[in-house]
Amino acid sequence: MTGAGTEAGAPPLLEVEDLSVSFNTRRGVVRAVDGLSYTLDRGEALGIVGESGSGKTVGSLSILRLFGLFDDVTVTGAVRFEGRDLLRLSETEMSRVRGGQIGMIFQDPLTSLNPVMPVGEQVAESLRFHTGASRDAARRRTVELLDRVGIPDAANRYHELPHSFSGGMRQRVMVAIAVACEPKLLIADEPTTALDVTVQAQILLLLDELRREMGMALIVITHDFGVVAATADRVLVMYAAQPMEHCPTDHLFQRANHPYTEGLLRLVPRFEHRAHKRLRPIEGQPPALTEPIAGCPFEPRCTHAVDRCAAERPPPVRLGPSHHSACWLAEERARRETAPDKPWEQP
Ligand SMILES: Nc1ncnc2c1ncn2[C@@H]1O[C@H](COP(=O)(O)OP(=O)(O)OP(=O)(O)O)[C@@H](O)[C@H]1O
Ligand SMILES: [Mg+2]
Repeated sequence: MTGAGTEAGAPPLLEVEDLSVSFNTRRGVVRAVDGLSYTLDRGEALGIVGESGSGKTVGSLSILRLFGLFDDVTVTGAVRFEGRDLLRLSETEMSRVRGGQIGMIFQDPLTSLNPVMPVGEQVAESLRFHTGASRDAARRRTVELLDRVGIPDAANRYHELPHSFSGGMRQRVMVAIAVACEPKLLIADEPTTALDVTVQAQILLLLDELRREMGMALIVITHDFGVVAATADRVLVMYAAQPMEHCPTDHLFQRANHPYTEGLLRLVPRFEHRAHKRLRPIEGQPPALTEPIAGCPFEPRCTHAVDRCAAERPPPVRLGPSHHSACWLAEERARRETAPDKPWEQP
């Protein structure tokens, strides 16, 4: 699955190719990511959506090779960043990439800040490590950054501990840390899930502004199609560790192809639902990731499934320059005369 604007000859900023990640656990081998491929150009924004447990976080943490100390993990495939395969770099080289060329905002902002270190120092520490800035220069730049991400009275709040910040303010600090070294790529894992809608909108706007100011590419991981619409040029839909559909964000809302994507879109709450429509959840549960899956992982829940779907894994079918759908019925569905331009509004 390729990016929208890759120029002929120029390698994309990021190229994830057939990435698979499995954990050897007491429950058996958990295939957390299975055959994930996508590319991202400089300055481009990709949204990754999917149900809880679909492999969004593991797929992104693998780019930075961030796993738990005691994880028994096997990673295959390639993650090329500016042409270099990150999976093959030494630990020392990798520590320069993390936080320097690739910034990350983690799913849980409270546990990812050090509770006993003043917030300003947490930003300055990253700057000193990656840019070699002096203590004074790092402090000055940190105050500028805290101010830029919207921390009022940044010079004084520099010295405060994370617990004295609200959830929204902590997330702004996380953004400051992640962009401190002006990374070429920022990965934001559920950057707004724990925030109220007003703060959520402010953080999304901030990420979008910073992306444009710094020319960063962005990967936003979310459950929320509203977040995708607000931040992403393209969207990748994952289900049970596998990529299901990948398309420009505009296509998603007008011509989603995969039955799973359609199912998710039907769950987008809309104001008018209150009056005359009920949300229709997708029946059934995702499969256990410890069991081998021969065909399409969505087949047991799919109302369109045919015999082949249970037997053979569908490859991504190209439906347009940057639209792919991993469904045996993809082409037939794309030809439908009455393509549902708003599938969640179908009777
Ligand atoms: N360290 C680990 N050891 C074993 N299994 C793991 C580990 N980390 C993740 N998993 C499993 O991998 C699968 C994918 O997890 P992941 O955290 O990527 O999901 P997610 O899509 O980010 O979900 P959520 O939306 O809830 O954040 C899950 O089944 C999870 O239980
Ligand atoms: Mg996650």
